[in-house]
Amino acid sequence: MSHVELLTLATSVATQAAELAARRRVEGVAVADLKTSAVDVVTYADREGEQLIRGLLADARPDDGFCGEESGTSKGTSGLTWVVDPIDGTVNYLYGIPHYSVSVAVVEGEPDPATWRALAGAVVNPGARETYTATVGGGSFLNGERLRVADGVDLAEALIGTGFAYLQELRSEQGRVIAELLPQVRDIRRMGTASLDLCMVASGRMNGYFERGLNPWDHAAGALIAREAGATVKGRRNDTEGKDFILAAEPSVAVLLDAALARLSA
Ligand code: IPD
Repeated sequence: MSHVELLTLATSVATQAAELAARRRVEGVAVADLKTSAVDVVTYADREGEQLIRGLLADARPDDGFCGEESGTSKGTSGLTWVVDPIDGTVNYLYGIPHYSVSVAVVEGEPDPATWRALAGAVVNPGARETYTATVGGGSFLNGERLRVADGVDLAEALIGTGFAYLQELRSEQGRVIAELLPQVRDIRRMGTASLDLCMVASGRMNGYFERGLNPWDHAAGALIAREAGATVKGRRNDTEGKDFILAAEPSVAVLLDAALARLSA
């Protein structure tokens, strides 16, 4: 399958799961479980969405691996793995804030962001009727319109997004970093959906974004979409937590934000 065909499949399964999530939202959302903390919520719709995507992908691509937020990782034999968040922004979803997404990426190699190569990704926001897509080397698109980040903004004029980890012990540390960064930038947003934060960098709605404590499914598709729109994307796995740090920004902002975060030891 070509990258474009993989993207067509990613977009199709993400769109079907987004339609299901939106329907379930209208019917009423129930919490199925709390994971690492009270903020780490899983709803029945998260589980149902992942089952739907997993089943559709298994029918279409039975030899591929799967790495999903709710049902874990299974290895395939093809060398490709689908990295899936059935509802990114679950807390927004639970509260009826229409800013959540279904995120589907297909990567080459082990499902480890340090080594994988993302080939295609789709992030669907049913609340805004927006679909972000990218293939490696093929550019990024929002509802079919090509995206290209701007450049040359100073950090003082940059709108920066971030998020907070589910690990409660990390959150006060993240609060300290925000308090010190806030006077250095135009403003800070915590929108609650990492995949859409990355897409908002791609579409120029934010100049930059960073977050510590992410899982692969939070950023696999969005990081590709940001990079293919011309953003600088830096990622690393934080050894102590086994979670990921991601910074994505317009190139000039990326340099300044990275340096500011280094000074703050973020
Ligand atoms: C979460 C969201 C949130 C981010 C958290 C993620 P989930 O994903 O993307 O914005 O701050 O780190 O875990 O749990 O809603 O899929």
